[in-house]
Amino acid sequence: MAQTNTSAPRKRRPRRSYQSPAKKFNKPLPKIFFCGDPHGSFDFINEAVEKYRPDAVVILGDLQPHDDIEKVLAKALELTQVWWIPGNHDTDTEECYDRLWHGVLASKNLHGRVGNVAGIRIAGLGGVFRGQIWMPDLEPNYRSAQIFVKRSPRSNLWRGGLPRRHRSSIFPSVYDGLAKQRADVLVTHEAAGCHKKGFSAIDRLAKNLGVRWLFHGHQHEDLAYGQYKGMTVRAVGYRGIVDLQGNVIREAEIDPRDLFAMQSAGEEPPPEVLDSVQFDPMPRPLPRMRRKHRRCGDWNSARGDSGRTRDEKKTVPSNDG
Ligand SMILES: [Fe+2]
Repeated sequence: MAQTNTSAPRKRRPRRSYQSPAKKFNKPLPKIFFCGDPHGSFDFINEAVEKYRPDAVVILGDLQPHDDIEKVLAKALELTQVWWIPGNHDTDTEECYDRLWHGVLASKNLHGRVGNVAGIRIAGLGGVFRGQIWMPDLEPNYRSAQIFVKRSPRSNLWRGGLPRRHRSSIFPSVYDGLAKQRADVLVTHEAAGCHKKGFSAIDRLAKNLGVRWLFHGHQHEDLAYGQYKGMTVRAVGYRGIVDLQGNVIREAEIDPRDLFAMQSAGEEPPPEVLDSVQFDPMPRPLPRMRRKHRRCGDWNSARGDSGRTRDEKKTVPSNDG
C-alpha cells in the first residue's frame, strides 16, 4: 500500500548572509601575519613578531624545521599564537614530520579544519594535490587515507599507516569535509586558480566556505592578485610576510632555485640581488644535484625523485615546489 506523507512541509532554514568580520565584530580587524614558506629559517618570523607584536601568525607550509619548534620559534611563541598548515616538503624527513605533527604546535595545525584565530575563522588546506591520490579535476584514485591504507600492501605503509609522503597529500575526504564549513579566510599551500600553476578546486573550496580572503604559499612568488571571484587573493612569497589587510610586513626573498637557474643560464644577478639572498642553515645539495632537483621539484632528496613510486613517475605529473 502506498504511504502518504502526512508530516507538515519542512521549513527551509533562512540562508545566513555573509558579514565581513569588521562589520560582524564592529571593531578593527586583528593583526594577523601570513608567512610564506620558511624552508628551515624562522628568524624572519621571530623578528617580525618581536617588532610588530601581531595577534597571531599563520605559516603557509614548508616549514622544514631543523630543530624543535620551541627552539626555532622561541620568540614568536613567547609573544603570540602561531598557527600553520603543512607543505609538501614537511613530510620529506621523519625528523621534520615529528617536530611538526608531534611537537608543541601539533594542536595549531589548521589542515582540514576551521580555527578561531584571534577572532577570525581561518580554514586551512595544507599539502598538495598528487596524482597518485587526486589531481583535480580528474577522478580521485583514493577518496580517503583509510581507503589508501586498506588497499596498500603492508610494506607500503609507514608506522602502520599512511606513507609519510602522503601525509602531505590532499585527499578528497578532507577537502569535502572542509567545504561543508564556513570561514572568513582560507589558507592553502597550493595556489588558487588565478596562478598559472593553481587549481580551480581551491577556488571552489573558497566559495563553499564563503571566505573573503585567500592566502597561499608553495609557489615562492609574492603576488597580489586583487579581487578574484569575489575574494581578495594573495600569494605570499618565499620567507615573505603579509597581513590580513594586504600590507607587506616583510619583503619575500628570492627563491634560491630561481637564483641558481639564473646563474645556470649565464645571467649573473646584480650584486644587490645576491646580497638579498639568505640561505638557510640546512645543508644543501651540491649545485649539480640542485639542478636536477629543480627539474624534479625536490629540495632535499638526494635522489631528486621526490620519493615517488615508479608507477607515479611514469604517469603522474609532479606537483612538488
Ligand atoms: Fe616551498
